[in-house]
Amino acid sequence: MVLYPMHFRYPKKLIVIAFAVLMLAACGGHKENTPLYIHAGFEIGTAVGAKEFATDSLFRAILVREFNSITAENIMKMAHLQPVEGVFQWAKADSLAAFCARYNKRLHGHALNWYLSTPAWAKAYAGDSAALENILKNHITRVVEQFKGKAASWDVVNEAILDSTGAYRKSIWYNTLGPEYIARAFTYARAADPDALLFYNDYSLTSDTVKRAAVLALIAELKANNVPIDGIGLQEHIYMDSPSIDEIRKALKEFVATGLLIHISELDISFNHFEKPPVYLSFTDSMAQWQRERYRQVVAAYTELVPDSQKYGITMWGFADKYTWVCSYFDQPDWPCLYDTTLSAKPAYQGFVEGLKVR
Ligand code: G3I
Repeated sequence: MVLYPMHFRYPKKLIVIAFAVLMLAACGGHKENTPLYIHAGFEIGTAVGAKEFATDSLFRAILVREFNSITAENIMKMAHLQPVEGVFQWAKADSLAAFCARYNKRLHGHALNWYLSTPAWAKAYAGDSAALENILKNHITRVVEQFKGKAASWDVVNEAILDSTGAYRKSIWYNTLGPEYIARAFTYARAADPDALLFYNDYSLTSDTVKRAAVLALIAELKANNVPIDGIGLQEHIYMDSPSIDEIRKALKEFVATGLLIHISELDISFNHFEKPPVYLSFTDSMAQWQRERYRQVVAAYTELVPDSQKYGITMWGFADKYTWVCSYFDQPDWPCLYDTTLSAKPAYQGFVEGLKVR
């Protein structure tokens, strides 16, 4: 046995204290690293872009660690899945579905019918309504069957109501089939997979009161007619300065009253307004703290106001500023996500966690 001189030996008490401090630090550290979805106790999802999914291993690691629900950002839309009439390309969506199965992530299908992702061949359709009805039915049936048992849920109809007026949006589907195409889309989806949960999904539902009233009326009508709708998707591509948190809370209560599942389906919080000259050109610390508080409030509103039985979860429309659709789509700077352009968590991430703690 080696006997150390007294000044090299640590008193027992000190060792015990050091050990306790180390354990506490480890627990504290672990708490800091708790994934978002574990904090939540309900599903926390993100949209996933095909390119970063295929090429960025850090992106995939964060995806697996933090989220337990995945929505394809683009590759399950009609224009991608059926680019030519009757020709379906499944490869990318199949591989995302396999990833979800492998890592035990919920797959939320997006979107079976959306005017903006209607492929050119269908948009240009000029035949009779029965043939277009068949195209609608065939697309929904083929896609839902392909992901039967893999996709837990679907955005069946996306953005069928117009901003400000609340009128039906004109599209090849509405113009040719009338407003009943919405109900029939849900019926076709239910027939193809009776176990999948079916959502109506739209934007500006917490900011545009006329549109919100129209969507609530649509939901009431669908329910009155026994159309198989299970949930409502509130996209929530919102801004730092609007809508107010009071307006968001009011809207959430109104949607909760429908009794449907509530999915915040596409959350991101931008500084610059879309299609207006950008006001913010760089991201400062005080903006980061402001955004942290905004995320806290929005997430707290959902956590607090939506009963557990109606929570379908909160899905980010992309989790990182590096890949956000906002900058490329509108060709302007912004920082709407929880992670930055180096894939490091921002203060917004902390705000999100804080918002989950009101439970
Ligand atoms: O397909 C080309 C690709 O070949 C090319 O490499 C790339 C280069 O920029 O452009 C490509 O397509 C773009 C595609 O995103 C993939 O990046 C389209 O031009 C672009 O219009 C498309 O935008 C998507 C948009 O929906 C329209 O489908 C966004 O990524 C996607 O975030 C956005 O998502 C929508 C939801 O589905 C519904 N709610 C609103 C939300 C935001 O607009």
